[in-house]
Amino acid sequence: MADTTFGPQGWTPERLENLAGKTFLITGANAGAGFQAARLLLKKNAKVVMLNRSAEKSATAVQELKSEFGADTDVSFVRMDLSELASVRSAAEEVLKTVPKIDALICNAAIAQVPTQKITVDGFESQLGTNHYGHFLLCGLLFNRIEQSQGRIVVVASLGYNMGIKTIQFDDMNWDENYSANPVYSQSKLAQMMFAYELQDKLDAAGKAVQVYVCHPGASATSLISTSGGLMTRSLWWLMSKTPLVQSAEKGAYPEVMCATENGLDQRALYGPTGRMQTGGPVGKGTLNPHAYDKNVMAKLWTVSEQATGFEWGL
Ligand SMILES: NC(=O)c1ccc[n+]([C@@H]2O[C@H](COP(=O)([O-])OP(=O)(O)OC[C@H]3O[C@@H](n4cnc5c(N)ncnc54)[C@H](OP(=O)(O)O)[C@@H]3O)[C@@H](O)[C@H]2O)c1
Repeated sequence: MADTTFGPQGWTPERLENLAGKTFLITGANAGAGFQAARLLLKKNAKVVMLNRSAEKSATAVQELKSEFGADTDVSFVRMDLSELASVRSAAEEVLKTVPKIDALICNAAIAQVPTQKITVDGFESQLGTNHYGHFLLCGLLFNRIEQSQGRIVVVASLGYNMGIKTIQFDDMNWDENYSANPVYSQSKLAQMMFAYELQDKLDAAGKAVQVYVCHPGASATSLISTSGGLMTRSLWWLMSKTPLVQSAEKGAYPEVMCATENGLDQRALYGPTGRMQTGGPVGKGTLNPHAYDKNVMAKLWTVSEQATGFEWGL
């Protein structure tokens, strides 16, 4: 049944109040939905710190945002490559030195549909390494600051979690035997969701108040596929993005901005567009299929992720 909490138009940025004094960290905010999320938050006077892999693209994004909102706009970036654990560690260190308060950490960055198996410097399949392990470590390193700030964590997932094998291939996490772009991307997004839901359980058990929300942007015209997808996927996506089946990157940012700011949302949920096939339309609470919070799988994934990243959350 459609979620009518926010009326027939669903959640829109008109619901945003003045965000002066609030700080939002967004990974991958130089492009796509992350950039649009930064715009929506800055428009309401928030402070935004982008965590991006390219210093050059970040400088351009900062310049663009300052020319739209004024030279005093509080937007900056810290260089971080999620595909390298060492880079995540040094970025987190810099954040802890320079950002006293984190109202929300939005885990938005991702690569998708990588056509052939690539392995990160730390030895992980690239989508799992970047999308899941990178964010797992980042969230862990920044957790105390988020907790002190009474902040929240937002995980940007994908409807892709419903595709592929719908579980974690623990016996071959790098897909050495059966690599295929879409199932492997799907698994990395499912892993991000399982991380979020398992974190909710652990925080609940530990009596900690940090909220963790999960959302997705539907089908949005961003640079995701052109950045990392293969030729065929890029061509198909390009064609599709010219049709009404694909919405704007700005609309794709609504769910993550909503999850970073709105009060009274449900944690064990998946927020996103609720229109046709949940790829577009009014933003609200969508369908969440139970394989995303299969307790045995998500608990095991947590242990595997702590071992892989060499980081223990202590929860
Ligand atoms: N667009 C869709 O239809 C769609 C559908 C479902 C889910 N999503 C999810 O939505 C989120 C936003 O993606 P988008 O569609 O806005 O894609 P996008 O336009 O490609 O933006 C992705 C951002 O992530 C950054 N990034 C990639 N690899 C990185 C790394 N190793 N370290 C740090 N940053 C990195 C990119 O940086 P560069 O600019 O340097 O590449 C870019 O800033 C992702 O989590 C994606 O999985 C998107």
